[in-house]
Amino acid sequence: MPATILVGAQWGDEGKGRVADWLAAQSDVVARFAGGDNAGHTVYVGDNLFKLHMIPSGILHEQVTCVLGNGMVINPVNLVKEMDGLQTMGVDISPDRLIISTRAHIITPAHIALDAASEKARGAGAIGTTLRGIGPAYLDKTGRQGIRTGLMAQEEAFADALYEMVRRTNDILVKQYGAETLDPQKAAEDYLAAAIRLRPYLRDVSVYLNQRMNTGARVLCEGAQGTLLDVDHGDYPFVTSSSPTSGGALTGLGFGPRRVDRIVGVAKSFSTRVGSGPMVTELHGELGDRLRGTGEHFWDEYGTTTGRPRRCGWLDTVALRYAAQVNGFTEIVLTKLDVLSGFDELKVASAYMIDGRQVDFPPDTVMELERAEPVYETLPGWSEDIGRARRGDDLPQAVRNYIQRVADLCGVPVRTVSVGPERDQLVHF
Ligand code: IMP
Repeated sequence: MPATILVGAQWGDEGKGRVADWLAAQSDVVARFAGGDNAGHTVYVGDNLFKLHMIPSGILHEQVTCVLGNGMVINPVNLVKEMDGLQTMGVDISPDRLIISTRAHIITPAHIALDAASEKARGAGAIGTTLRGIGPAYLDKTGRQGIRTGLMAQEEAFADALYEMVRRTNDILVKQYGAETLDPQKAAEDYLAAAIRLRPYLRDVSVYLNQRMNTGARVLCEGAQGTLLDVDHGDYPFVTSSSPTSGGALTGLGFGPRRVDRIVGVAKSFSTRVGSGPMVTELHGELGDRLRGTGEHFWDEYGTTTGRPRRCGWLDTVALRYAAQVNGFTEIVLTKLDVLSGFDELKVASAYMIDGRQVDFPPDTVMELERAEPVYETLPGWSEDIGRARRGDDLPQAVRNYIQRVADLCGVPVRTVSVGPERDQLVHF
């Protein structure tokens, strides 16, 4: 069966977890292909709230095998904690249900310390990372001095590599950053315990996925973060260090483009961003606060991983149009439409003005992006509570107009919208 790729179309936090949860119900395998525990997916099932960082939300569906792909960076200690948490809630986490690539890279305590030290050193120019060691781990990967997950199968070599990496980093921490050193022996011991636990889960993911697809399995590739945080296509340098776009799914899992026939982009009905970097439609004051919510609910706009309040603004279809192009979306899922209920009018950025010039795509430098002014279209709002809508016809005309205008501005059909946080609060067109 052909594979489906699901990716974030904005700056992450688009509500991919709940969309993945819906698509996972129709899948046999759900595979993560990029990032690590910088991601946070919240899935609400009945009375239980699941917070997942590395394991795909597909784990909540009994028929699904979950895969952590080679494109990921994995913190083994945190992964074991996440597995234990799920197990306590009665979720089966046997090696039949979870597969870890032998070719992913390990996030070590050295990477976490370097993330914190380098962010501090950047001062006002800090990226606002999640401090999970993501950037330094990918730096070691591309610098060809990282530790791969496959090494967890060799106890002594793994502990030695861990020890050596931490010892080497201590030098940098002290000399370059004036930071505290780490205990290499303790790091090696903690990580060895996690490695022993994870060893039965290790496998060549490319071989596994290709074999499963050859025998008819339906594979869902679940992206983390979002297109505008992509190291190539995002607002560099205010990006993450991986490729959370559809291209990243192919390299991050190890199969070819002809395997894929559906590319789903998840976009929130308005814009949010955590961390630094340009955000052309950002709203300060009352309107932004209203979109953010109070923080009382898990769906309010506060980071799942870091708890930071998210920056909020109107929908930016310039960015979304670019995401549609970079990923080749076949459809868009528009989430959190219910949050827009009660606004008299809604704005959508359809273009930018930069130095007196109108542009339809984001410029390629942050300097230009920071000078961009949104060109807004104003659409009528709606006052109805739309949480009970389950079919397109249940939605007021103003809602349908908003959805259609977004689709027209991006050139991609909106096939699904979410109208609330519960599993069944989806409307399909
Ligand atoms: P890093 O991935 O921790 O290096 O962070 C780099 C940038 O990506 C920062 O602006 C983070 O806030 C952002 N980021 C990383 N992961 C996520 C995510 O899952 N959702 C939203 N933003 C994220």
